[in-house]
Amino acid sequence: MKKIFVTGGTGYIGSHTVVELQQSGFEVIIADNLCNSNIGVLDGIEQITGIRPAFEQIDLADEKQTRDFFSRHRDVEAVIHFAALKAVGESVQKPLEYYRNNLNSLMNVIGCMREYGIRNLVFSSSCTVYGQADVLPVTETTPRKQAESPYGNTKAMCEDIMRDVAKVEKGMNLLALRYFNPIGAHPSACIGELPNGVPNNLIPYLTQTVAGIREQLSVFGDDYNTPDGSAIRDYIDVVDLARAHVVAIRRLLEGKNKANYEYFNIGTGRGVSVLELIQAFERATGEKVNYRITGRRAGDIEKVWADTTLANTELGWKAVVPLEETLANAWRWQQHLGKMKK
Ligand code: NAD
Ligand code: UFG
Repeated sequence: MKKIFVTGGTGYIGSHTVVELQQSGFEVIIADNLCNSNIGVLDGIEQITGIRPAFEQIDLADEKQTRDFFSRHRDVEAVIHFAALKAVGESVQKPLEYYRNNLNSLMNVIGCMREYGIRNLVFSSSCTVYGQADVLPVTETTPRKQAESPYGNTKAMCEDIMRDVAKVEKGMNLLALRYFNPIGAHPSACIGELPNGVPNNLIPYLTQTVAGIREQLSVFGDDYNTPDGSAIRDYIDVVDLARAHVVAIRRLLEGKNKANYEYFNIGTGRGVSVLELIQAFERATGEKVNYRITGRRAGDIEKVWADTTLANTELGWKAVVPLEETLANAWRWQQHLGKMKK
């Protein structure tokens, strides 16, 4: 059984990916410092797959801890690097923490992979690297724009590090997945997103509003140049996204990659406005969303969605979960969280 090292594997996207990896016959070992997740996630994973993944609490921004981990796990065949800080607003307030954590962890991981002869890496990038693109949908050849936040900048810089390393480390295969907007939860409601404090992202704020934890959802702007005036994103189901990692890992392990640094858009190819998303949620769940239109949020772009042709043809991957099913899963997860608190 091939062993995959998943950093940040108790986090939102990491935990869903661990499930898909295990269900595809891979052995998984997780390292996470639990700065934005908790150890109980391992129970959720075990409930779904029947297998408790190996886990070590490690800070990957610490070179010594990271090297120690790699020196003890020489049978790892590939790494998926999710571990990062990800709050856009917080990154503006704490830029050094974001650069230190997100850049050092990637450099430590790649450095140790080189040292211990581990060739294959999949990295979590983001559509944030495109900024407000001039032409939509965005393809992988769409020019990247200057990032709006230190967080976004860490993703662009990490991609650059991978590109430069790949030029000289010909034996290494580095692949970045540019996620659009991941939402939803596992249909079992055993794992999902665990937002810390007041959520910044749309779906956790929306589900907490419907659950009565927040009073009202603010829709940030209805004066954008879009059909209904609210901003447009490409919302990708987290299980579809998790599957993309399994496909990417297989591509590298089977040597099917066309270059030793590659990057792919991972979205649905469909743009959905905030107001359309609220309506879809109401249809999917039968619940009413209490919302009001407020001003635009600083730093938001107007619209972005993916051209996923490259992922469809090269990776043989496609998003399949219908939006309403994703939203129903997000609501089921919110209800599950509510029960846990009682
Ligand atoms: P998350 O916060 O749920 O998961 C990240 C995990 O990494 C957490 O469990 C955290 O404890 C851990 N971590 C952070 N720094 C660490 C360190 N130095 N050492 C060890 N563990 C560390 O976030 P997520 O939504 O699952 O995101 C996973 C990855 O995908 C991140 O790299 C994120 O930037 C990227 N991404 C997320 C989104 C999104 O909207 N969720 C969009 C695009 C890209
Ligand atoms: N929105 C609201 N009300 C809210 C929260 C969000 O109207 O309470 C709107 C936003 O203005 C935006 C859309 O809902 O138009 C989506 O907002 P999110 O905060 O959920 O997501 P973003 O597109 O702003 O950014 C997210 C992640 C970034 C990541 C990016 C692309 O937060 O880290 O997706 O992957 F880079």
